[in-house]
Amino acid sequence: MRLILLGAPGAGKGTQATFIKEKFNIPQISTGDMLRAAVKAGTPLGLAAKKVMDAGNLVSDDIIIGLVKDRLKEPDCANGYLFDGFPRTTPQADAMKDAGVAIDYVLEIDVPDEAIIERMSGRRTHPASGRTYHVKFNPPKVEGKDDVTGEELIQREDDKEETVKNRLAVYHNQTKVLVDYYGDWAKSGQPGAPKYRKISGVGPVEQIRDSAFTALEN
Ligand code: AP5
Ligand code: ZN
Repeated sequence: MRLILLGAPGAGKGTQATFIKEKFNIPQISTGDMLRAAVKAGTPLGLAAKKVMDAGNLVSDDIIIGLVKDRLKEPDCANGYLFDGFPRTTPQADAMKDAGVAIDYVLEIDVPDEAIIERMSGRRTHPASGRTYHVKFNPPKVEGKDDVTGEELIQREDDKEETVKNRLAVYHNQTKVLVDYYGDWAKSGQPGAPKYRKISGVGPVEQIRDSAFTALEN
């Protein structure tokens, strides 16, 4: 299984990725998680990316494309992969097409902007694993602690309301074009075209998981 999860910031890509990667036994390639790891490690990439991310803008295409191409060379990608938060621009999508990176499904998770701000303000994450919770909608078993490791949960720097508003604007200006990009490709019936599936991301997490699994079955 090789798939792209497409959706606005806070649509639930990371949340659903946890279920999908387990079901299909594939690695989750989250460019956001990779960048946050680089920031934490203080690498040159991390130092360059931090300002851009904290403002809610996009890191340059060249950097992101390089990161993903390197990641795809690792042996765990042989069985498939799940892209979370990538591609995010037309040049990123073109780069994957040009490199012949196969995609079976593009799964769009649709959530209206109004619901996003509340989701972001209550989000808590476990940086080491990328696991995501919400204080109200998807709370951890023990408040403030990761379910698996018991380690401390944190709030992301870019989850402030102002930054979230900018991230939504960036999504509409630069990423939403990929809905038509992949939708049209899917409709073209060309060899190697992915299947395009759209599900609602509003409702209980488990209900959305079930719609995602159904969408990926046919
Ligand atoms: P990235 O980490 O990719 O962030 P994003 O796309 O903005 O998406 P999020 O992680 O915020 O949301 P999500 O859809 O994963 O939602 P989640 O499951 O966590 O990118 C961060 C930054 O890195 C970018 O701004 C950019 O600077 C840079 N970057 C990354 N990739 C890049 C690229 N390809 N090119 C250039 N720059 C790049 O859920 C959100 C919250 O809602 C959680 O609290 C969750 O518990 C809750 N929730 C989930 N599902 C539900 C539900 N059904 N009901 C209620 N609450 C729910
Ligand atoms: Zn995410």
